This record gives sequence, structure tokens and C-alpha cells, in this order.
Amino acid sequence: MESERDKYSMINFEETELRLGLPGGSKHAHPSLSRTSTTTTNNALSDTTPSTLDLKMNPNLSSSSCSSSQFLQNPSRKAVKSVLPAVEMALPVVVDAEYLKEVDKARRDLRALIANRNCAPLMLRLAWHDAGTYDVNTKTGGANGSIRNEEEYSHGANNGLKKAIDFCEEVKAKYSKISYADLYQLAGVVAVEVTGGPTVEFVPGRKDSKVSTKEGRLPDAKLGVSHLRSIFYRMGLSDKDIVALSGAHTLGRAHQERSGFEGPWTQDPLKFDNSYFVELLKGESAGLLQLPTDKALLEDPEFRRYVELYAKDEDAFFRDYAESHKKLSELGFATSSKPIFPKDGTILAQSAVGVVVTAAVVILGYLYEVHKRGK
Ligand code: HEM
Repeated sequence: MESERDKYSMINFEETELRLGLPGGSKHAHPSLSRTSTTTTNNALSDTTPSTLDLKMNPNLSSSSCSSSQFLQNPSRKAVKSVLPAVEMALPVVVDAEYLKEVDKARRDLRALIANRNCAPLMLRLAWHDAGTYDVNTKTGGANGSIRNEEEYSHGANNGLKKAIDFCEEVKAKYSKISYADLYQLAGVVAVEVTGGPTVEFVPGRKDSKVSTKEGRLPDAKLGVSHLRSIFYRMGLSDKDIVALSGAHTLGRAHQERSGFEGPWTQDPLKFDNSYFVELLKGESAGLLQLPTDKALLEDPEFRRYVELYAKDEDAFFRDYAESHKKLSELGFATSSKPIFPKDGTILAQSAVGVVVTAAVVILGYLYEVHKRGK
């Protein structure tokens, strides 16, 4: 069942990718456009009119905000019935100036909400659990907002996260353009920032999906080194990412009724710093928690190298954490938005036509000049 639904989702991703990856005329969201700075993104993406090629690839696209109902009312293929669930699941996100404005406002609201409700750790855990289902081989799961589905937030690993989903819903109600996927990752980035952690770059444009992966993709806290590696490598992350991201346990605590574990990892669980690593190296202390997966970071020499580095050098931790968190927050996003070009060579043909027309204009201009002088 899962693979059947994932297949639907991939069909739509491909359609969206084609649209996002158009050269020249396409002004839609793409990480490569927005990565450098928000200002460039803003300008580059302000015009959302679909190009001719957009229309060619998806004749039902009459405006950039093509809705699923528009698509469904005017099906272009016999096979559209089999694509129906995909269309409903992953609408394309168009990051234009208005979208960016909403992101800015949502960021401000999230700062206030997190401060009022004291929920930075829970929001960070929400962002991580939405993204952490990613499988780099099948390109399923990832930061796609699917944790909002009851099916997924009811997974044992997600106990307690419905509260964070509801908090985010309050923000979503005000800024309807923002995808859930973006909102959850923005909440994670803001949670780190407001508790004193590093600034994690946030690139908007994630698509929402209603497809939830099966339970069991998130790490099991009772296991050790090889389990950690198999889970994080499946996401496409590295040993350094595993250790740096585990440092997020500098925030928050475990709750007996949610995970079966109890207590905070550090003395000040609302401050984002390197104390998780300092405490880890000290060994067990009364009142503080160390999960089997936390202790595993000391057992493996490659992991331990980073634990020791981060315990003595907070700047190194912040630098690596910001990088790894950005990667985590973009699982399934960067890959699915990569430009891909039509296999029929349409673009190559168009470029060739462009070259021929330019050459013809130059030659005709030259002949005209020669003709004029000859008179
Ligand atoms: C390395 C594998 C990981 C395991 C096995 C793990 C496991 C857990 C467990 C069992 C809890 C307690 C949940 C509860 O009872 O409320 C927890 C909480 C938390 N985790 Fe992780 N986690 C891991 C990685 C991460 C990562 C990568 C992040 C973020 C980047 C993260 C962020 C958090 C936060 C912030 C909390 C505190 C939540 C709260 O206070 O409500 N964890 N984790």
C-alpha cells in the first residue's frame, strides 16, 4: 500500500519538478535561486506567470497558483484518474514575494508563540520528526508536512507532538500560503534561534504531502551505534551529522508517558549550547538523562571525536550544527526540486532555434548594410 501511494506521490513530484526546473522563463521557487540571499529570491521570484513551456508541459496551468480542482476539472490525460491522489497530496509551492512576506511574518509569530508557550524543544522535535522519515534511496518521506496526518502523528515515536502540530496550526490559520512542510521547519529553525543557538539558514518552498511513511523510520533510543548509522545513513546523513544533530538534546527533556524515558539532558534545558556534550563526557549524573543512543556516541571512535571537539569548542559545534540542521530541514526538498529537463530535447531544440534566428538577423543586417553602401 505504501509503495503504491508513494508512487502516486512521485508522479506528481515529477510533474512539479519539470515546472520548477524550467530555464529562463521559470520564476518559481528553487533552492538554487533562493540560496544566496532572500533579497535575490524576492526579485527573482516576483513574477509568477507560467512560461510557454509550463503550459506546454501541463496544459491545465492557467496561472501559477493552479489548484488541484482546476487540474481535475480539465484532465489532459486518460490516466488522470490514477494521478488523482497525487494531485491532492502535493501541490506545488510558488515562492513569490507574497510567500516570502508570509514567511517573515510567520517567523515573527513563531518567536512570540514559542516564548509564550515555552515550547522550543517540542517545536524542534516536531521539525526533526517530520524530516527524519526521509529515505535517500526511495526518495520517500522527508520534510513534507506529512506528520500532520493522524496516521503519522499517532506513531509511537511521535507521542506528544500533536501539541506542537496544533500550535503550528494557529500560525497556519493566519498565513495560509505557507506549506505545512515549510512551517514545521521554520518552527524548528526559530526554536534553535530563540534559545540562543546558531542561525540556521531557512530556504522556503517545500511541498506538502499527505503520504505518510510506515512507522519505524525514526531512531529507537534503546539501540546503539549501528542502528544510529543505519537510520541516519538512510536519510543520506553522515557521522558528523549524527553527532552534531544529537546535540539538539541540549534542549528539552524526555517524558515518561511519551517515550518511557524521563528527565532533561542538561542543567538548563531551555538554553541551546554545547552542554549536552559536556554532560555526556562527564558520565551519568543524578537528575540528568543519557539515552542508550546518546551513550553510543562515546563508544564509537569516529563519533567520539566529534563529541570531544564539540564539548571543548562551542563555536565548532554551532557551525556544524547549523550546517547539519539545514541539511535535515531540506531532506526530500533539495532533491525533489532539482531542475530536470524534458527528455524529448525540447529545450535543446529551442536553444538551437534561438542561435539560428540570431545568426540570421546578423547576416541579414550585414547584407542590408552592404546593399545600402552599394547603392
Ligand atoms: C539520534 C537519535 C535520536 C534519538 C534516539 C532521540 C530520542 C529522543 C527521545 C526518546 C526523546 C524524549 C521524548 C519525550 O519523551 O518527550 C527526545 C526528545 C527530544 N529530541 Fe531527540 N532523539 C534523537 C535525535 C534528535 C535530533 C536529531 C533532534 C533535533 C535535531 C532531536 C531533538 C529532540 C528534542 C528537542 C527533544 C526534547 C523534546 C521535549 O522536550 O519535548 N532529537 N529524543
